[in-house]
Amino acid sequence: MELFNKKTNISKNAELAKKRSILALFDTPNRVDEFSVNAADLYLDYSKQNITTSELESLITWAKSNGLSQKINAMFSGEQINNTEQRAVLHTVLRAPQHVKEAVLGKEAKQVQQTEQRMAQIVDDVQQGKLLSSTGKKFTDVLAIGIGGSYYGIKVGLSALHPYHNTGLKVHVLANVDGAAVTEKLENLTADTTLVVLISKTFTTQETLLNAKAIKQWMLAELQDDGAIAKQWFAISSNVEKAQAFGLDASHVLPMWDWVGGRFSLWSAVGLPLALAIGNEHFNELKEGAYQMDQHFQETDFSQNMPVLMALIGMWNRNGLSYQSLAVLPYDHALRALPGYLQQTDMESNGKSVSKQGEKLNWRTAPIVFGQEGTNGQHAFMQLMHQSDEIIPTDFIVALKGTSSLDEHHKVLVANCFAQSEALMQGKTLVQAEKELANNGLSQDEITRLAAHKTMKGNTPSNTLLMQSLTPKCLGAILALYEHKIFVQGALWKINSYDQWGVELGKHLSEQVLALMADSTVEHQMSPSSVKLIKAFVQK
Ligand code: F6P
Repeated sequence: MELFNKKTNISKNAELAKKRSILALFDTPNRVDEFSVNAADLYLDYSKQNITTSELESLITWAKSNGLSQKINAMFSGEQINNTEQRAVLHTVLRAPQHVKEAVLGKEAKQVQQTEQRMAQIVDDVQQGKLLSSTGKKFTDVLAIGIGGSYYGIKVGLSALHPYHNTGLKVHVLANVDGAAVTEKLENLTADTTLVVLISKTFTTQETLLNAKAIKQWMLAELQDDGAIAKQWFAISSNVEKAQAFGLDASHVLPMWDWVGGRFSLWSAVGLPLALAIGNEHFNELKEGAYQMDQHFQETDFSQNMPVLMALIGMWNRNGLSYQSLAVLPYDHALRALPGYLQQTDMESNGKSVSKQGEKLNWRTAPIVFGQEGTNGQHAFMQLMHQSDEIIPTDFIVALKGTSSLDEHHKVLVANCFAQSEALMQGKTLVQAEKELANNGLSQDEITRLAAHKTMKGNTPSNTLLMQSLTPKCLGAILALYEHKIFVQGALWKINSYDQWGVELGKHLSEQVLALMADSTVEHQMSPSSVKLIKAFVQK
C-alpha cells in the first residue's frame, strides 16, 4: 500500500517538484496572499514552500478522502482514538468552556472544573501568603519535579512567558536523573520557603521518583519536621494512592486524567508550576489562545486551516519530496525551549512505523525535529543547511515586537530571521558566485579557486510564523497549532500518535543493568560490550 495512491498523482508531482525552483513559483501573481493564513493572532506565510496551488489542492482532496474531518471530530468528541491504550485524547477539552466540557465529559466535567478551581485557589493562596510553609513562612520558590511531558510544557511556558512572571515566585524545574542537576537546584533553594510540585502521571517514573526522594530527604534534614512534606508538597498524578504513600496529603494531590497524554498535559493541573509563576489570569489567557486555535482547527475549511496546511505541507516535504528533518528556529530568546518541547511532542507522538492495526507501514513518519533560537543556529548547524546536499525544511517563528527595550537588537534579530528564509530559498549559483568575486576585484585564478566554495544550494522550503508579540495567548495558540499539526499527520500516516511504547525497552534494560551492577552473576540479555562497560562502572 502506498501513502498517496497513484490516482492522486501526488507522488508523481512531487518527483517533478524536486527539480524546480521555489523562487520561480513567485512568478504566479498573489502567491504570498494565497499562501498565507491567519488564526488566533498568528500569521503563517507558507509561500516559500515548494508547492503549487493544484498540488496543495490534491493534498487537501486526499486528506478529505482519507476521512480527516471524521478523524478530527472523533478526537474532539472523545472517541478512544488512542487504540493501544483504549483511551480518548481530550487535552482540548481542558481549555474549552464549561458547557463544552459537560457535553463531552458528562459527569466528569464537574471534577475537571473542581480541579481547575482548586489549582487557581492554590495559586492565589500561595501568592497572597495564605498558604505558608511548615515554619509559617511565605513561599519564595517553587520546585517542579517531573520529566518528559511532565516537564517540557512547563519549561517552555516558563521561559516564553518570563515577562509575565508576576507572582514574585521563582519557579525552578528538575527533570534529569543526575545528582549534579539536583545539587545545582539546591544551591538556590531554602527548604522552609520552597514549595515542591511533584508531577508524574503514573507515579512510577524512575527519574522523577529518585529526584523526589532526594529532595524529600533534603527537606526533612533541613527542617527536621516530618509534617513538612504534607504541608509543602503538591503532586499532580493519576495515581493518587501512590502519591499519598509517598507522604503527600490527599488534599494536596491534584488528579491527571487518563484521557490527557503527558506531552499534551500543560493545560491540566500539570500547568500548576507555570500558573504559580504567571498567575491565574495569564494562565487562562494561555488556555484561551489554545482554545481559539482549537476552534479554528475544527471549524475552518482545510484550504484556510493553519494546522491542516502545516501538516499537509510537512507530509509533502517528508513523503513527497523525501526530506528527513524539520528545523524549528524561533528568532526569540523567550522561545529557546520550543525546539526541545517540539522534539518530544512530534517525535514521541509520530516516531512510529506500524499502523494503528499493527501493520508495517510503507512510508516514513515523523521527521527528525531539531532547532535552536536564532541567530545562534546561524553560527552553528545552519552552515550544513546552506551548503550540504541535505535539504532541511524549516519553521521560522518570530514576533514583530520584542519584549526588551533594546529596539535595535530586535530589529537585527528580525532582519536575520527574514534574511535566513530568503537565503535558504535563493541560494547562490556558481555563476552568481563568480560574478560576485569578479565584482570584488579578484583575479580569474582566485575566482576559479573559490567560486565553488561560495555556492549555496538554495531551494530550501520554509514557513514563517509571525505574531505581533509573544503573549500568553499567542504561546497557547502556537502550542495548540503544533499539537494539531501532529494529530493530522499521525491520523493521515494511520498511526497512533498517543502511545509511546518505544521508551519501554530502555526502561526495562536499565533495570537489568542496575541488577548487574549489584550482582554480576544475575541472568541478563546484555552484549559483551555493555558487560564490559558495566564492569568498568563497578570497578571505578
Ligand atoms: O517518555 C515517556 C513518558 O512516558 C512520557 O510520555 C511522559 O510524559 C514521561 O515519560 C513522564 O511520565 P510520568 O508523568 O508518568 O512520570
